[in-house]
Amino acid sequence: MPPATTVGPRMATPDEPLRCAVLISGSGSGMEALVKAQRTQHLPHTTVLVLSNRADAHGLERARSLDVPTAVVERMDESGQGRTREEHETLVLKQLELHEIEFVVLAGYMRLLSPHFLNRWQHRVVNIHPSLLPHFPGAHAHRDVLAAGTTISGCTVHLVDEGMDTGAILGQCSVPVFSHDDEGSLSARVKIEEHRLYPTVLSWIAEGRVHLVNGKARVDGEPPLTVC
Ligand code: GRF
Repeated sequence: MPPATTVGPRMATPDEPLRCAVLISGSGSGMEALVKAQRTQHLPHTTVLVLSNRADAHGLERARSLDVPTAVVERMDESGQGRTREEHETLVLKQLELHEIEFVVLAGYMRLLSPHFLNRWQHRVVNIHPSLLPHFPGAHAHRDVLAAGTTISGCTVHLVDEGMDTGAILGQCSVPVFSHDDEGSLSARVKIEEHRLYPTVLSWIAEGRVHLVNGKARVDGEPPLTVC
């Protein structure tokens, strides 16, 4: 067997939970569901920062009403000048350091992370994507699923690498696609499962149960489960 790399920085417990930052760009319903699960289910991970790259993201209001600290790092600086990707990521990295973050959770964060960021956070960044990867990566998953006439879709939690939705798959949930679906109805059905899947997979990681072998994830030594 090749050596396995543990995903996540340490074994966490509900009493010493993994300190997560959730990065968002938009509505933040996944972030809100995660924070509520963490607060009601005694999980080994906690959200201590919500960071947005957009000051107008509705998710920031949700975070404030949950009393989770927030930060905004926009693409433009105060004088309206565009920041380079590296400048932007350097400011995000500073916020992570400031809040003593141990793990990064992307939840509708609409920017790709570069090696400048990921080399410092190897195996410590996850994303949730609204399709059954490797099928239908990219920003328009629901539209692409409907256009293809597929009858099953779902969501995937995966490790983040430099590609678009290409990192090792950690867990998935499936949902039916109906002939009368539009993007809104399919997205709503998938989000119900997203909101169950993310806390579950984060618990596996926090408990030290997820390893990478030859670039593929193993949970308790087995290929990732379809959770639902
Ligand atoms: C979710 O569907 C997630 O899978 C995708 O972006 C959407 C974010 O929704 N990456 P919300 O902001 O959590 O409501």
